[in-house]
Amino acid sequence: MCGILGYIGKERALGTFLDGLSRLEYRGYDSCGVVGIKEGNFFLKKHPGKIHELRSGLKDFLEERFPIGIFHTRWATHGRPSQANAHPHLDCKSQIAIVHNGIIENYLALKDALIKEGHKFVSETDTEVVVHLIEKFYNGSLKDAVYKAIKKLHGSFSLGVISLKDPTRLIAVRKGSPLIVGLGKDGNFIASDIPAILPFAKEVVYLKDEEVAVIRSDKVEIFHFKGSSVKLEIERIRIKPQDAEKKGFEHFMLKEIHEQPEALKRIFSLYVKRNTIEFPYLNLDEKYVKSLKKIFITACGTAYHAGYVAKYFLEKYCDLDIEIDTSSEFRYRTLNVTKNDLLLTISQSGETADTLAAVRDMERHGVKVLSICNVEGSTLTKESDGIIFTHAGPEIGVASTKAYTAQIMVLVLLALYIGKIRKTIAEKDLKVMLRELSVLPEHQKEILAKINEVKKIAKEFSKFGCFLFLARGINYPSALEGALKLKEISYIPAEGYPAGEMKHGPIALIDEYRGVVCVAPKDFLYEKMISNMQEIKARKGKILAIVNCGDTQASRLSDAVIHCPQLKNNDFSPMLVAVGLQLFAYYVAKNLGCEIDQPRNLAKSVTVE
Ligand code: AGP
Repeated sequence: MCGILGYIGKERALGTFLDGLSRLEYRGYDSCGVVGIKEGNFFLKKHPGKIHELRSGLKDFLEERFPIGIFHTRWATHGRPSQANAHPHLDCKSQIAIVHNGIIENYLALKDALIKEGHKFVSETDTEVVVHLIEKFYNGSLKDAVYKAIKKLHGSFSLGVISLKDPTRLIAVRKGSPLIVGLGKDGNFIASDIPAILPFAKEVVYLKDEEVAVIRSDKVEIFHFKGSSVKLEIERIRIKPQDAEKKGFEHFMLKEIHEQPEALKRIFSLYVKRNTIEFPYLNLDEKYVKSLKKIFITACGTAYHAGYVAKYFLEKYCDLDIEIDTSSEFRYRTLNVTKNDLLLTISQSGETADTLAAVRDMERHGVKVLSICNVEGSTLTKESDGIIFTHAGPEIGVASTKAYTAQIMVLVLLALYIGKIRKTIAEKDLKVMLRELSVLPEHQKEILAKINEVKKIAKEFSKFGCFLFLARGINYPSALEGALKLKEISYIPAEGYPAGEMKHGPIALIDEYRGVVCVAPKDFLYEKMISNMQEIKARKGKILAIVNCGDTQASRLSDAVIHCPQLKNNDFSPMLVAVGLQLFAYYVAKNLGCEIDQPRNLAKSVTVE
């Protein structure tokens, strides 16, 4: 998962391209590079580190203006982060430059053949074979050479290509990894994602898989890999530039934690009108919903945890058989699937390779696909039968927060929608639940108001070398998500576990040197949680409990507590528990001086398998 940016048009200062590239840094940040064409020469600079370091190395050139360039921020797949492996990559004669996002699966065979033909390689990357193939096939037309080169490639590749031989064209290719074309008033852009072009363009074309764009300063043409021309589908960009800024918060993650109440309010107001739930792009008719027997849920990471919450909800309120698995496991299983089944996928980015693969596989079985997604125009939204957008706004922090509770809110509304159609939820109960959901954002704000208490708890618990997160029932996924949040930004080993499983192994971990987070809302499993907490206490475990306001029993057993408002329907509590656990993870990581928005080894969107 890398970030690509490209431009062709009226000259622009190098610094503005770095600004745009920085908005893609969440996609990968272990090395970066720029190349522009100026007076018939390449201006190329690469750096084995972050964009701000590259910028300081270019401080004397930030005002240099270029009419064309390609820019890249990398998440290493083949070849460690280094100067040589950073993109852009050049051909032997330094006449062609390329940036790439994806994986060329057959690069070794291609590299051997090209070396035999005399090509000289300077990097360990898979990407470099592509620029040498374009060099090999170049015969006066950059577009034709790119076409011939990509025919040799297996795998996923979004590419940006420029050449000194033809500086009036920027060639873009999209296969398996996202790439958009931004239409600006003084020039045109390519980018891996919308945030990079927000300050420069108001219109966008989402390239589809197996499309090539030939981009000039005043014209964009799109062709299919097979050669046929493709009509441009121009869409207005609805995200505002400031939506992708920190707005005064120290980290995107903290800003996005605080944006959750407004996100939930937006979702509720968009999809619930006078106690009626409507999803504009659901594309599933009532007859189909009534006939449904089974829903398969698949997603990755945090989205998978949201799906797990949905599993409890759909089983309890919709009389449906639910099966859930991570996309990377789901796609390789031999499943007993029928056309009456539905695949429900969840993805913030809409670009996660394993989730897309699962969708394509199930569609080959004729199964309908409904996807919950946060990014308009993403691949998942183009390949699903039905879509429900989460409208959480751009989520830049690598650790997903507002997207998670937004996904849960949408999934809960979906369950209520299905339950109403299947008459498994009474009208009066539906009204009561909708009323409680409508005030959930206010309850989230109550937790956000306790930020100083959480800061203190996080400081105290930062000393522990590993954590166990325990919960039961619909909050078991909350334990999984809390553990993921902590480990991915603080690098402290943390494991989410069903509390009932503790005595089947994890209790061996309990001693005074480990933190145990217990999610203990006053629900029908509360007493069981109390027993678990007593067993932990008896072994000197240090407990942070997530409890309801006014709780006494669990609090007495805990070394620290984070209070969540008591809900009438505890099934909504994961959307509150998440806020407490997100803040806890954030302040532990902050206390340890970790790189919160761009944790090591991670990237926001896993577009490679
Ligand atoms: C969550 O904090 C992680 N960044 C990661 O697990 C993420 O949820 C996962 O990669 C799925 O991404 P998606 O929602 O964009 O498909």
